[in-house]
Amino acid sequence: MNTIHYDPAYARAMGHLLVLYTQVDQFIMEVCAARIATAPDTEARMGLAKQVGDECRHVSIQNDWISKLGIDPQPVIPSVELDRLHTRFRELEWVDFLTDLYLVIEALGSQAVEQVVPLADPGTRESLRIPLQDELDHVAFGLSELRKVLNAMSPSKRAATLANMPRRVDNLVAQLEALQLPVMDWFEAVGTRREQMMQVLDSRQDELIAQLAA
Ligand SMILES: [Fe+2]
Ligand SMILES: [Fe+2]
Repeated sequence: MNTIHYDPAYARAMGHLLVLYTQVDQFIMEVCAARIATAPDTEARMGLAKQVGDECRHVSIQNDWISKLGIDPQPVIPSVELDRLHTRFRELEWVDFLTDLYLVIEALGSQAVEQVVPLADPGTRESLRIPLQDELDHVAFGLSELRKVLNAMSPSKRAATLANMPRRVDNLVAQLEALQLPVMDWFEAVGTRREQMMQVLDSRQDELIAQLAA
């Protein structure tokens, strides 16, 4: 069996993070696939379809890397919780779907993974290269769709939707925290600092919402 790194605490934590990232990508792939039929226009359907292909590729890249390293591929998110998240996403209106998927899961999720890249072993860093490049496209797609929906709203609805966004983001983050996965411990075990990570994510969230409001 190979090991990622000489330090077993690093290897265990990085293993959990890689499995988590792969599970999240698979979740996104399924959620986007399920939305294609009801997306509001051709541009949105094409963006979702492209993303399904991208996430499929990320899942394959990560699974290959995980098996090469002999990491325990045991899922870290229980399937019952994933089912619950699927139900939540299925029921969302388009604007809320975009906010939850692209501002939280895609933008903040990939921002957190970005923090790990400079600290990761070379093989893990390489396995994240293509996925993280694609995540930039996904966030850009989500923001552009969100702008489209917001611009089609009346000024008062638009203002109310924007004003409510931080609360939506916080609600979903709280729901994810309720899974009680020790994700921040894993991030710390691979070398990130908790406070710095929280600051980076907070300012990214503010920046994204400011971009939408501009
Ligand atoms: Fe991905
Ligand atoms: Fe993505």
